[in-house]
Amino acid sequence: MRSATMPSLTEIPLILGELLVLLVKLLFFFLEACYRLVVPPSRKDVAGKVVLITGAGHGMGRCTAKRFAKLQARVVIWDINEAGNSRTVKEIQSSGGEVYAYTVDVTKKEKVYEAAEKVKKDVGKVDILINNAGILVGELLLELTDDQIQRVMNVNVMAHFWTIRAFLPDMLSANEGHLVAISSAAGYFGKNFLVDYSASKFAVTGMDESLELELMKNYDNANIKLTIVHPYIVKTGLVHGYTSRFMPILEEDDAADTIVDGILRNRRKVFIPSDLRLSVVFKYIMPHKSYLALADFFKSETCSQGKQD
Ligand SMILES: NC(=O)c1ccc[n+]([C@@H]2O[C@H](COP(=O)([O-])OP(=O)(O)OC[C@H]3O[C@@H](n4cnc5c(N)ncnc54)[C@H](O)[C@@H]3O)[C@@H](O)[C@H]2O)c1
Repeated sequence: MRSATMPSLTEIPLILGELLVLLVKLLFFFLEACYRLVVPPSRKDVAGKVVLITGAGHGMGRCTAKRFAKLQARVVIWDINEAGNSRTVKEIQSSGGEVYAYTVDVTKKEKVYEAAEKVKKDVGKVDILINNAGILVGELLLELTDDQIQRVMNVNVMAHFWTIRAFLPDMLSANEGHLVAISSAAGYFGKNFLVDYSASKFAVTGMDESLELELMKNYDNANIKLTIVHPYIVKTGLVHGYTSRFMPILEEDDAADTIVDGILRNRRKVFIPSDLRLSVVFKYIMPHKSYLALADFFKSETCSQGKQD
């Protein structure tokens, strides 16, 4: 049986001192958050910075890449889909942006490490890494094949391990860098037909939170920024057959605007739409059955992709 260690009498003043410091910190951070609601942090300058985006051959990745190129960043795009990548390159170059494209399957760890070395040689140290590539099958757990489940985990979460392990050491050496994870609303809420997908996105959420602590406690508060993005449904083609009573389906350009703005302002967590944050709060403070009843009332449903096609 575990037992809590009771503080000795001599430790009590120390603990009371720490408690006081904690209360001051809590108040300060709360007031800071309120202030930041009114006066957002300013946007950082990314001109000349190397921004690598996985899955930039389509959807939000492409839109995000185009925005960073417009801000004069040196954009590196990775995608398994060569044709998609080429289209992104064309669109960026036609508006005068700088872009480097690599065909990479982010699930193949050796290929990721190889491509990472190539990027470092061709373009330089990556300043901002955006792990965006993702897939979704949308089927009942028992209807999925083993391979489909494995692939969802490989693309949506394992790839983050490979890319971060490839680029974080240089960021640590320079004591500067920014890691961005595109998770999902399904990284906070379970969803019908999304057992595998939601599991992968919850994993990304856990990875991000633990990495933050790891960097703080083991790397002397290294100056590495982290941003995690939780979009709801965005019209990119990734999700078919979605219905909701109240939640709007978002346009990819609007989502990309919010993602880029969040990164430039070094926001820690970005919810798209922003009021999604409230649902997270409700989820954790409500009795579980009330939460399920509320979710049912909203009638936000992801349907089987197979049955939609
Ligand atoms: N669309 C949504 O409703 C939605 C909602 C929440 C979160 N997200 C997340 O946002 C991210 C982007 O989604 P999207 O809607 O723009 O998707 P998308 O399908 O439009 O684009 C995903 C891109 O990832 C690439 N990709 C897939 N597997 C890859 C691999 N193994 N290696 C390299 N590239 C690979 C695809 O080729 C594609 O270009 C994903 O992580 C997704 O899970 C999307």
